[in-house]
Amino acid sequence: MQAQTFSTFLAKTQRYFSSADHDGLPRVLNDVASACIKISSIVRLGALAGTSGSLASTNTHGETQQVLDLESNRIFLEAGQISGLIAGMASEEMEQPFIENHQQKGRYLLVFDPLDGSSNISLNLSVGSIFSILRCPDGVEVPALQDFLQPGSQQVAAGYALYGTSTMLVITTGQGVNGFTLDDALGEFVLTHPDMAIPHEAKEFAINMSNQRFWELPVQRYIAECLAGVEGVRGKDFNMRWVASMVAEVHRILVRGGIFMYPVDEKTRERGGRLRLLYEANPMAFIIEQAGGLASTGYEPMMGVQPLSLHQRVGVILGSKVEVERVVAYHHQQQD
Ligand code: F6P
Ligand code: MN
Repeated sequence: MQAQTFSTFLAKTQRYFSSADHDGLPRVLNDVASACIKISSIVRLGALAGTSGSLASTNTHGETQQVLDLESNRIFLEAGQISGLIAGMASEEMEQPFIENHQQKGRYLLVFDPLDGSSNISLNLSVGSIFSILRCPDGVEVPALQDFLQPGSQQVAAGYALYGTSTMLVITTGQGVNGFTLDDALGEFVLTHPDMAIPHEAKEFAINMSNQRFWELPVQRYIAECLAGVEGVRGKDFNMRWVASMVAEVHRILVRGGIFMYPVDEKTRERGGRLRLLYEANPMAFIIEQAGGLASTGYEPMMGVQPLSLHQRVGVILGSKVEVERVVAYHHQQQD
């Protein structure tokens, strides 16, 4: 059977996009995919990116990473202006949104983390891009910061690109989750993981264990029970992984089940948490839930959180449904 490219997939699934709400979405998604392909090619250069001249004037680790962050941001901004359908963009790399200056009103807002986990670049470990597409509110010609502050439940589409041993694009438009692998020779993403579903049975957790002494009691309890293994209340042994790259972590959990946590703790409480709501937590929550999993702050459903600021942080607990439900139950019990 002929491999299905991302553009063929989008064309075939046009019927999902036939409503006025989704008008033009395939073009926007295609442009985002092209941005990810460009970012993939500079990420693949590794340390060479710092000496290529076009990307960096020095090759020190910190500066090279910073240059790649900014370069990825520039690539997203450029791609987001092609269709004329995006009214404004917000990014981890920009304090304020970028507002498009179109004759025609853009229908969508694009929010992204252009290069997540970028401290991994200098180590040649996995990094990724995360994006979320929101509707530009009705009647808004020129969006203001306020217009980006929509709960995750309002997302029209979301996805991530994982620059791992291969480059993958995983997306949802609210009709399940599909994964594509970049065929470098073709220069296109090819459907390799149709209808992704997160396994219910989970024996793996991902959390930065060095923060243990700062965790709240419900998280302490959940992890202690995992660590107790077959002799404990869970009656089974758990494995642990921490790549420190959210895209890699979420992808692993999507493929083989488990739970990812970056919860609010004593260290991050004042800031609201560690990860960002609009361009890290919400798009990942949308994907995980579309794949049959669950995403929560511990206290409320992730996609129900009303954002109050663009770069707002939040506690993140997501993954296989039964595991997330268990941690959420522990949080509720604590409140009772
Ligand atoms: O963007 C934040 C991030 O790089 C995530 O990709 C990752 O999950 C997290 O930080 C790792 O944080 P830490 O270094 O505290 O483990
Ligand atoms: Mn990030």
